[in-house]
Amino acid sequence: MTAGPEEIAAAVARLRAGGLVAFPTETVYGLGADALNAEAVRAVFALKGRPANNPLIVHVADEAMARGVAAAWPEQASRLARAFWPGPLTLVLPKAPTIPDEVTAGGPTVAVRCPAHHVTLSLLLAFGRPLVGPSANPSGRVSPTTAEHVRESFTEAQVYVLDGGPCRAGIESTVLWLAGGPPRILRPGPIDAEQISRVLGEPVEPYQAAAPSPSEQPAASPGQLATHYAPRTRTILVEGSDVESTLQQTTGRAVVLSLTRDAPPPHTTIRLPSDPAAYAARLYAALREADASHADLIVVERPPLTGPVWEAVADRLRRAAAGPAGDESGGKSAR
Ligand code: TXA
Ligand code: MG
Repeated sequence: MTAGPEEIAAAVARLRAGGLVAFPTETVYGLGADALNAEAVRAVFALKGRPANNPLIVHVADEAMARGVAAAWPEQASRLARAFWPGPLTLVLPKAPTIPDEVTAGGPTVAVRCPAHHVTLSLLLAFGRPLVGPSANPSGRVSPTTAEHVRESFTEAQVYVLDGGPCRAGIESTVLWLAGGPPRILRPGPIDAEQISRVLGEPVEPYQAAAPSPSEQPAASPGQLATHYAPRTRTILVEGSDVESTLQQTTGRAVVLSLTRDAPPPHTTIRLPSDPAAYAARLYAALREADASHADLIVVERPPLTGPVWEAVADRLRRAAAGPAGDESGGKSAR
């Protein structure tokens, strides 16, 4: 059931007391806390098991609230906010002094976005303050796209969940560097470099997968590193033409995520839509479903990777398949 005024009032009370509230967005569910309350922000890191050097996105109701979060608001930010907000574009800007260091992992910049979901816009207006909101999953795991997914990870005592139905876009927002020098995509998402470039009237540096760096201080974009969005079951990404031979070599049972074919028994199949936006919207729920089926292996058939949304999907698939299953150890702070 979609949250109404009563649930929003309860969520505001929880936030005012320094508690945590999961909120729906068009991308994935966020794990919300008062962005101006350092202790509440620390509780978000603790509950997720998130490394302290991976900064959080601050969610705002509108451009006016965003201006309070950033120390500088360039003309480019205004243009992009007008064109894409509320929506899946996160802007990285110099941080205002009122934003606690915990939010930005001690760094001088802050990521800010206005989510396109009426429940969360109502929440932000009723609360009257910005909210941090990493995806509402344990660090490194698959992001939640339904309220039920959030409840699978956290208890109602830990997190008050606002139900806003399934997320429309299904993958995380595009993150854009706007804190000096040319605008640059730090994380690919539903809005691509070309769309941004058209609005700005200047070139935008496309996303480049980061080379692994040995020391990850509040990095340019820590979330870019491998081993993220990972199911617990071993997950591999294979070409469509290799699915059959892969299955022949598999001992035990595999779940195949496929656009085109059904796997022979004992393997099972989850079919995904061939439209890129529909594929993205379904992907995380499908990975969770595959994980829950206790198969020995998840085989993801590589979708035809052309076009903007596919680029963001390909990024998530690479990470889902990158990590050894169940690896929650330190090392790479890619969670
Ligand atoms: O769609 C989304 O963005 C969702 C919904 C809930 O809004 N949120 C989300 O948050 O995906 P999270 O914490 O899972 O991912 C935030 C990403 C990470 O890759 C992080 O490194 C990057 O944004 N980020 C945050 N602050 C940054 C900053 N100051 N500079 C560069 N990257 C930053
Ligand atoms: Mg996340």
